[in-house]
Amino acid sequence: MGAPTPHRTDDWWRHAVIYQVYPRSFADGDGDGTGDLAGVRARLPHLAELGVDAVWFTPWYLSPLVDGGYDVADYRTIDPAFGTLAEAEKLIAEARELGIRTIVDIVPNHVSDQHPWFRAALAAGPGSPERDLFHFRPGRGEHGELPPNDWPSQFAGTTWTRVPDGEWYLHLFTPEQPDLNWAHPAVRQEHEDILRFWFERGVAGVRIDSAALLVKDPELADYEEGVDPAPFIDQDELHDIYRSWRAVADEYGGVFVGEVWLPDAERFARYLRPDELHTAFNFNFLTCPWDPERLRRSIDDTLAEHAPVGAPATWVLCNHDVTRTVTRYGREDTAFAFATKAFGTPTDLDLGTRRARAAALLTLALPGSVYLYQGEELGLPEADIPLDRIQDPMHFRSGGTDPGRDGCRVPLPWNADAPHAGFGSQGEPWLPQPSGWSAYARDRQSADPRSMLSLYRQALALRRTAPGFGDGPLTWLAAPDGVLAFARPHGLVCVVNLSDGPVPLPPYDGLLLASGSLDADGTLPADTAVWLRT
Ligand code: GLC
Repeated sequence: MGAPTPHRTDDWWRHAVIYQVYPRSFADGDGDGTGDLAGVRARLPHLAELGVDAVWFTPWYLSPLVDGGYDVADYRTIDPAFGTLAEAEKLIAEARELGIRTIVDIVPNHVSDQHPWFRAALAAGPGSPERDLFHFRPGRGEHGELPPNDWPSQFAGTTWTRVPDGEWYLHLFTPEQPDLNWAHPAVRQEHEDILRFWFERGVAGVRIDSAALLVKDPELADYEEGVDPAPFIDQDELHDIYRSWRAVADEYGGVFVGEVWLPDAERFARYLRPDELHTAFNFNFLTCPWDPERLRRSIDDTLAEHAPVGAPATWVLCNHDVTRTVTRYGREDTAFAFATKAFGTPTDLDLGTRRARAAALLTLALPGSVYLYQGEELGLPEADIPLDRIQDPMHFRSGGTDPGRDGCRVPLPWNADAPHAGFGSQGEPWLPQPSGWSAYARDRQSADPRSMLSLYRQALALRRTAPGFGDGPLTWLAAPDGVLAFARPHGLVCVVNLSDGPVPLPPYDGLLLASGSLDADGTLPADTAVWLRT
C-alpha cells in the first residue's frame, strides 16, 4: 500500500454531505410525468436550504431507460426526457453558485444496446474489429447452442445473449446492457475523453458505476463458487485503469466515488490508494442491521480499512437500489440484502422512522462524508408498486419474486395540496405515488419542527457550523449495553440507544440535537440518538 496523503482541510469531499438525485423522480418541470433537469433547477433552493455540499445525479444521458438510465446510448447527450446539455451546464453553474458541487454518474462496465458502438458491432459480424469492443464469443456445445460460460448475472438469469449470426455477447446485467471489453485501448480512451467532457463542464466529481466489474478474466473462465475474486470482479488490471483516471481527475481537481461492492476489506481499500479513487461507497454499513454490536463492528472495520490508505470513509444508509431506511429498520430483519427482498414483508413504520432518525444522527457524526438519498430527508418509506406498474428489470428477471427497486424510486412529494403531491406532473407520474404520500410533502414538513426534514436541516446546519464533525478521530466511550457512544474532537459526543429501554446520558454541557424527545428524567429513550457538547 502507498503512503497516506496528508489531510488537507480544503478537501471538501473528506467531510461533505452529498445528496443523491434520481432525476426521473425528483421534480417534474415540464409536467410530462417524468422528473427532469428543469425540475431540479427549480428546486435547487430546497437543496441549499437543506444544507448539502454536493449533488450526485444518477445517469441523465441519452438512454432507452431499460435500467433507469444505467443503459447509456450517448454520454455526451442528455436524454430528451430530462432536458438538454445546455440545461445541464446551467444546472451545474447554478448549483455551484449556491455552494453545491455536482457529481455525475459514469457507467463504464456496459453501454446500452442502442449505443452506436454496439449497433455497429452487431452489423459488422463475427471477427470484426467492432465486435472487439465487447465480449462476443462462439457458444459451447455441438452447435454453439450453449452460452460460452456459466457466469451468474447481477440481476438473476443468464449473462449471455445469442445474436442471429450465432455468436453470443456478455452482459452482467440485462441483455440491453452489453459489457464493454476493457482490454481494448479504444474503450479506455473513450472513457478518459468522457471524464474530460464532464470535468470541462464544471462537475466536481464522478460516481463510477459497478466499479469493480469492468475487467474480465481474459479466458472468461467458468465461475467457481468460493474462488475469490470471481473472474468478472475485482481483477487486478482495474487498478491500472483507475490510476489513469485519477491522473485525468487531478488535472481538474475532480474526485471519484466508486461503487465497489467487495466483502474483502483489504481488497476494497486497494481502490482507495492515494493514486486511485478518492472514496467508495460503504456498503458494509449500508447492509448492516440495526444492532449495536454489528454497527460498532462495521464502523470499526470501516475506519480500520480506510486508515492505511488515508482515504476518508463514506456513510450510506440507502440509495436508488436498496430498501428505504425507515422501512428496512421497521422490519424484523433490519439488514439489507438483495436476496431477501420479498413482497408483503410486515413493517412497523413508526419504529423504523424512530430508528432512521437516530441513524441519521449516528451517520452524520461519524468521520468522513455522508450520502443522503432523495426522500431520505422526508422519511419516505419504500412504496408498494402495483404489479402492472413495475418497471425495474430486476423484478422481471427474478421471475417476479423480487419486488424490484421501484419502491424507493417513487416521485417525491413537494406540496401536500397539489396534484401528485406537487411532483409537477399534469397526468399520472411514471411511477404511482401511494396513497398518503402527501403526508410526507416537503411543505408540510417544513412547517413542523418535529419532522424528519427539520431534523435533517438542523443536523446539517450544525455539522457545517459546529466544530468536531467530518474527517478526524473517533473515540468510543464506555456505555451501557446496547448503546453506542463516541467522542469526536472539540468535546462533541454522539450517543445512540439501540437497547430496549431508556438509558442515562453521560454528563454534558449542552444538548446540540436529539432525534426524539428525552424522557422527563433526562434519560435517552430506546431507538433515539443525541449530539452532546461535553
Ligand atoms: C449499479 C446501479 C444500478 C444499476 C447497475 C447496472 O449497481 O446502482 O442501479 O442497475 O449498476 O448499471
